[in-house]
Amino acid sequence: MKSILKQMVRMICTILVLPAVALCRLQAVVGGRDRAFSGWSQFFALFPGLCGVHLRHAFCRQVMSGCADGAWIGFGTIFSHAGASIGKSAYIGNFCSIGDVAIEDDVLIASHVSIMNGCRQHGTARLDIPIREQPGVYEPVTIGRDSWIGEHATVAASVGKHCIIGAGSVVLKPIPDYSIAVGVPARVIRDRRTLTEGIQNSGESSQIGGFEGEGQSHQQALDILQAVTELRTAADRA
Ligand SMILES: CC(C)(COP(=O)(O)OP(=O)(O)OC[C@H]1O[C@@H](n2cnc3c(N)ncnc32)[C@H](O)[C@@H]1OP(=O)(O)O)[C@@H](O)C(=O)NCCC(=O)NCCS
Repeated sequence: MKSILKQMVRMICTILVLPAVALCRLQAVVGGRDRAFSGWSQFFALFPGLCGVHLRHAFCRQVMSGCADGAWIGFGTIFSHAGASIGKSAYIGNFCSIGDVAIEDDVLIASHVSIMNGCRQHGTARLDIPIREQPGVYEPVTIGRDSWIGEHATVAASVGKHCIIGAGSVVLKPIPDYSIAVGVPARVIRDRRTLTEGIQNSGESSQIGGFEGEGQSHQQALDILQAVTELRTAADRA
């Protein structure tokens, strides 16, 4: 029943956004794809509640490079490039600002997060012309699968898979898979695959080594944890 209702809402929203999609495509021919898209992204960012989430999804699905099923785009969140993509079940909180970024499946992005394409959007070498007139570089940025970006973080480089970026951190260099990185600039403080981290997480049925097909299986991880627990118990007794 719930899925039928969901399908219906999806269909209604797809129809509702059709005029905007058509206008956006028309504007793209005249003024460029990104300019047209960013204006409409701002417009749809203003719709509150679940209704807004569905409308944004319906619009982005038809206009962006990718917007997979289950992707959630929060209130006030704006995209500046139609080339951005959002993976399956990825969550983007409220009031985020996102550039030309590939957001992979299951990513969690808290509110007030900025993700930009590097830090060199404008050239600064010359002093005889304004910075705004100096061409810069837009670096491609990817947020890897199952990563969590904390509130108010600013991300200007790619983040690997299964990473955690602390609230308020500023990411200036690529972050390797499974890292927990915090601070300004963000520095890696831990690798989530370390055994100690696995033990901390064991009560929450998390996995060591990533999702199926990416590393050790869940069962293997549980076996390791059990062996370590037994060793610890034996050591305590001794
Ligand atoms: C990154 C995070 C998950 C780290 O949690 P943790 O693994 O339990 O880390 P700890 O709390 O043990 O902290 C380890 C060290 O990192 C520092 N640290 C943790 N989070 C930090 C942050 N956001 N910025 C700067 N330093 C941070 C701690 O001060 C500590 O430093 P110390 O060893 O010098 O004392 C957590 O702090 C965080 O920022 N979560 C995001 C929360 C959020 O944004 N929620 C929004 C709703 S989805």
